[in-house]
Amino acid sequence: MRIRVLGSAAGGGVPQWNCACRVCRQARAEGNFRLQDTAAVSGDGTAWYLINAAPDVRAGILDTPELAPGPGLRDTPELASGPGLRDTPLRGVLLTTAELDHTLGLLSLREAIRLRIYATATVTMALTSVFPVFPTLAQYTGIDVHEVSDGIALDGGLDVQRLTVGTKRPRYARADLSEEGLAEGGSPKVGGSGPKVGESGDGRGLGSCGRGDWVSALRLTDRATKKSLVYATCLPEWTEDFDAFVDGADEVLLDGTFGTEDELTLMTGRPGTARSMGHLPMSVSREHAGRHPGTRFRFSHLNNTNPAVGDDIVADGDLL
Ligand code: MLT
Ligand code: MN
Ligand code: ZN
Repeated sequence: MRIRVLGSAAGGGVPQWNCACRVCRQARAEGNFRLQDTAAVSGDGTAWYLINAAPDVRAGILDTPELAPGPGLRDTPELASGPGLRDTPLRGVLLTTAELDHTLGLLSLREAIRLRIYATATVTMALTSVFPVFPTLAQYTGIDVHEVSDGIALDGGLDVQRLTVGTKRPRYARADLSEEGLAEGGSPKVGGSGPKVGESGDGRGLGSCGRGDWVSALRLTDRATKKSLVYATCLPEWTEDFDAFVDGADEVLLDGTFGTEDELTLMTGRPGTARSMGHLPMSVSREHAGRHPGTRFRFSHLNNTNPAVGDDIVADGDLL
């Protein structure tokens, strides 16, 4: 199994375009950038899947030699106009959340001849009825949306297992949907000061996004070598279920949004703890990781406030 990190930053990237914090200033000075969280994974080195599709996914793909298109003989004149020119090793995209930083890049893949997308029913509902990325994309390319669930077999010899690790919705889907409205299965009640989402469309299916499978961890296992990777770059809590999910894995990519619980406030003066934003800080994750000595844990999805450096922090372009 090969895993290539295309982007290792949280939403906004590093540096964030409008941020002059210490980490962003240093990143600009050194030209040391991080694209937003996306990885590419392959069992056989031929069939590749993206895990998430960040807004800057195009730059990540261009920086990844394994994802270059073409039949391998692309300089051969006979093939110069054949369909092989649009051959791509990319077989699909696995989504772990419906957040903008993980999904906007789907729209940048609209040149695809077909696009296979794996997501939970909750994420599919959000990207269909609340923020219609899928119907929009379907106007440009053929899309096949599959439910990502345990036991899915990907091309190239990878098996997928999935665990719901969080129920935090993207802001665009925080419509104050009342549980009552959800239970009735009717159009959701939209109130409060939040955006008026859910008003377009017929509201069908919104009921399923009450608590929902909003945030997933994925475990990918190479059928031939039995090597496995857990991808959990959005992790609100280290539950017993999550502990069992990572047990025995070779590699785990963890949520590195914040180094410590109070980082955001210390660095920017803005209120909010790491956990209140749905991200377990690295200081806590490292303690749990220490109980799995046979597993290599590394952090991705770094926020631009996180100055962490070291062997357990991935960089864009890393091959795990
Ligand atoms: C998150 O990681 O919590 C989300 O991507 C937040 C966001 O960028 O809106
Ligand atoms: Mn994010
Ligand atoms: Zn910054």
